[in-house]
Amino acid sequence: MLAGPGAGRKGMREREKWDTRYQDSKEPFYGREPSAFLARSLPLLPERGRCLDLGGGQGRNAIFLARRGWEVVMVDAALAGVAHARAWAGAEKVRLRSVVADLQEGALAVPERSLDLVLMVNYHDRSTMTAAGNWLRPGGALLVEGFAQEQLGRSSGGPQDPALLFHPNQLLLLAHGLRVVWYEDRLITDDDNPRHRGAKWVVRLIARRTA
Ligand SMILES: C[S@@+](CC[C@H](N)C(=O)[O-])C[C@H]1O[C@@H](n2cnc3c(N)ncnc32)[C@H](O)[C@@H]1O
Repeated sequence: MLAGPGAGRKGMREREKWDTRYQDSKEPFYGREPSAFLARSLPLLPERGRCLDLGGGQGRNAIFLARRGWEVVMVDAALAGVAHARAWAGAEKVRLRSVVADLQEGALAVPERSLDLVLMVNYHDRSTMTAAGNWLRPGGALLVEGFAQEQLGRSSGGPQDPALLFHPNQLLLLAHGLRVVWYEDRLITDDDNPRHRGAKWVVRLIARRTA
């Protein structure tokens, strides 16, 4: 599924960090509810179809969509996250395909125009986002949610690495060639989950392929 050069020790440390977090938390690390942004954005997305959830964690967003009839494939580097998602989907009797893979190890081999939705919820990966536009069918949507540079120093969630946090309008540039149907870049005080409580500076985009 992956092709290209390995990301090495840094990628291994990242994987271990997430595996440890998922193993150590009794309840799902980000809770059982999907991203509030995803949940209220359903009217802006295709009704259903094939979805790829990148950096899907323990599956809260993938399972939310699978319950609604989406065919979801979730990819995450953390085995403990994917194992949790599989068990959760099994308990709910929803169909979820999941892959343990480090997306920094190489490009995903996804056929062009094969997907109706690509999700990147709090998975800050610019190169994968750029590639995702080609994976969408006409009408398909890319949904990205992440944190802005302004989140640096805040304890309400997100990476504290400035190289990962989004710059003003950066998501708009990365969505080049797609029709942006939603964009926000602002400080919010709601949409909490167990790890993102209080004021946080979020960046959110939904962009659709027109042809
Ligand atoms: C902040 S969590 C978000 C999880 C999920 N999207 C959610 O909203 O609950 C980021 C996820 O990205 C995954 N991740 C980080 N680097 C990755 C990589 N190189 N390849 C695949 N997954 C990665 C982590 O294992 C983690 O599960």
